[in-house]
Amino acid sequence: MSNNNSLNKAVKSLPLSSYCNTKNFEDELTAIWQNEWIYASHEKMLLEPLSYITLNIGKYNILIIRDKNNELVAYLNTCRHRGSILCEEKSGKLKNNLLVCRYHQWSYDVSDGKLIKTSSFKVPDNFNIDEHGLDRVGLKLWNGLIFININNKSAWNTENTFQDYDPIINDLGLNNFEVGHTWQKNIKCNWKIFWENYSECLHCPNIHPELSDLVPVYSRRIMDIKDSPDWEELSKISDPKFQGGLKEGMESWSMNGSAQGNKIKIIDEIENFPGQIYFTSWPSVFMAIFIDHVRIVRIMPVDSETMSLNVEWLFEAKTLADPNYDINNVIDFAILVMQQDSDACELNQKGVYNPTSKPGTLMPEEYELKRFHEWLQEKVSYV
Ligand code: FES
Ligand SMILES: [Fe+2]
Repeated sequence: MSNNNSLNKAVKSLPLSSYCNTKNFEDELTAIWQNEWIYASHEKMLLEPLSYITLNIGKYNILIIRDKNNELVAYLNTCRHRGSILCEEKSGKLKNNLLVCRYHQWSYDVSDGKLIKTSSFKVPDNFNIDEHGLDRVGLKLWNGLIFININNKSAWNTENTFQDYDPIINDLGLNNFEVGHTWQKNIKCNWKIFWENYSECLHCPNIHPELSDLVPVYSRRIMDIKDSPDWEELSKISDPKFQGGLKEGMESWSMNGSAQGNKIKIIDEIENFPGQIYFTSWPSVFMAIFIDHVRIVRIMPVDSETMSLNVEWLFEAKTLADPNYDINNVIDFAILVMQQDSDACELNQKGVYNPTSKPGTLMPEEYELKRFHEWLQEKVSYV
């Protein structure tokens, strides 16, 4: 038998209770979300000095600010006096380089988080102002993309952050791209269910008829031609169903399959470009690169049964400026597909509450789920 990606044995899935119990969810927040590098946003979402965004990750709330000198910094969004939240809005702009707590007005320097002053009539002798600065969160600006590390302990490692890292991404110059559109949606499912759905195409023909038409290999319920045990034999057939790639004549993931005359040069130069390249970074983001745009999908846990999806569409400036380029052509197609996935994830979630102790099963095409489960199980004991 030839080399192929598929599993040759059925594998036990995670216990169904792990998709809805709060114990496992709390453990995931501590063991995974606090420790891993988490995608926040493209830096152009914080364009001006003193602009900020806040990020909900489960119960945590993180503050990311561009200081007066244009440097990005991140802190736990918590006042060191008695714990009030500092910035309540999703995004905004500070008046100056000070963060002032709304409760009793302690104020902090934005650039280094140092406590500048309290509002008490006297600072007690045993109170060292230097020991009451904000808790720093690790921040890495990578190709224009902001990643944070809540524990501020792990060193950044590009290869480890993207499991399917390919240096092509450095040549793309994503920092020069513009965010043409964003979309946010809460999905009633555990965050792991979203990743599982992302990791297989067993659902593609029935859940995504339009996408399976555009990317014919998906209509075979596989993600890659090498998922099939007889792929070598089948690859002699010159049909994209067996070769991979987009349907004949199609250029991009868009409503009509057209790239509307705008191709990213470096992507266009890739020999046999398959139509899409995916980059994945558990637990928070995947990025899909197409011939004319890039889509970044951020996954955040809300609670054990809810997650939020935040999507950014990146375009080259010249594409956005082209009056003949309609960005809705790619946005509408992506939303169609993501809405279908979201419905499937909610369908999955609705069934996990019944009192069964029998776990589900991973079938041959679900090899990526197995890898995901192994990665999770290294960090959390699922019961
Ligand atoms: S809680 Fe912030 S100043 Fe009191
Ligand atoms: Fe899907």
